[in-house]
Amino acid sequence: MELNGKERMLAACRREPVDRRPAWMMRQAGRYLPEYRALREGREFLDMVRAPEVAAEITCQPIRRFGMDAAVIFSDILVPPAAMGLDVSFHSGRGPVIEPVVRNEGAVDRLIDFDPESACGFLGDTIGRVREEIGDERAIVGFCGAPFTTASYMIEGGSSRDYLNTKAMLHGRPDLFARLVGRLVDNLIPYLQMQVRAGADCLQIFDSWGGALSASTYESVLLPEMKRLVVGAQASGAPVILFVNGGTHLLDVLVETGADVLSIDWRTPPADAISRVGDRVALQGNLDPCVLFAPPDVVTRETRRVLEAFAGAPGHIFNLGSGILPKTPIESVEAMFREVLG
Ligand code: CP3
Repeated sequence: MELNGKERMLAACRREPVDRRPAWMMRQAGRYLPEYRALREGREFLDMVRAPEVAAEITCQPIRRFGMDAAVIFSDILVPPAAMGLDVSFHSGRGPVIEPVVRNEGAVDRLIDFDPESACGFLGDTIGRVREEIGDERAIVGFCGAPFTTASYMIEGGSSRDYLNTKAMLHGRPDLFARLVGRLVDNLIPYLQMQVRAGADCLQIFDSWGGALSASTYESVLLPEMKRLVVGAQASGAPVILFVNGGTHLLDVLVETGADVLSIDWRTPPADAISRVGDRVALQGNLDPCVLFAPPDVVTRETRRVLEAFAGAPGHIFNLGSGILPKTPIESVEAMFREVLG
């Protein structure tokens, strides 16, 4: 049985047998690639995201180099907040800036419910162009940020160390926080469905900061809305991967979201994850992206360890435990994929 990349990804998501582990990397299109840095020169990040020709080219760059099984669309989790009327900008060294901050009723009420086809037509166009280039042999991964992570950017106005304003609203104004999260999910469901209509085969929800919450808070405050988001996304027909960075303590709650795949970071021991999730979900992960700064023989050995550790999982997609870092040596990425793809 030889599968192509798309069949392999979909089979692993559905916990069906595969010929070998499917593989891709979070943030695989980006700054560690010289061909990305060359295109980035003199351009604004969001202008590149909104130019389908450029975004499709960047999406395909890592595929051409490494031949991984899936292409993740070059875009950002802050595209929906921008479509909801906020001003989103990226300043080098400072990370993203979102204005104005959303901290009261008025700010939540002023958010726009957007039509993804008209407000984010560039994204559908990018997905169509990527399909044209990579054909049906590889999977296309569409994505969005999870409601907690997206809300944290809107409430903090950017990246944050402790999510103080976000958690203050969650605990102090639970009604307002719930309204904001509800508005996000209302908009993220059609946004994800649009990506599947345009050609995405799987969807990933990035809860990059969800690990900052206790399991009981995640369960009582976020779980119902996460379930609604996952079910809404799955209505498109595509499987859903949920990545919660730092979410080891949340695994039991995350299974309850109904996601097809849980993506785990490098801190979570694979054997623990397998025993806790049983046969209810497939797993994705979890090589520490910092391992890629070690010599190639170490990268090869650690990659093999990850593959072996997940051998007993009901389904496994090889990935890093979080996004690849900007200064990662290309030789390491080559060594890693040589080991996984054969
Ligand atoms: O994975 C991919 O290759 C697809 C594209 C993608 C990007 N961002 C491109 C990008 C994806 C899936 C994301 C997700 C994303 N964006 C997350 C979740 C990440 C995770 O691992 O949990 C987050 C938190 C964001 C918000 C964001 N966008 C941040 C914090 C930054 C870095 C800002 C900085 O100055 O370092 C971005 C910018 C960004 N998004 C870049 C890329 C390639 C770098 C842009 C550049 O060239 O400067």
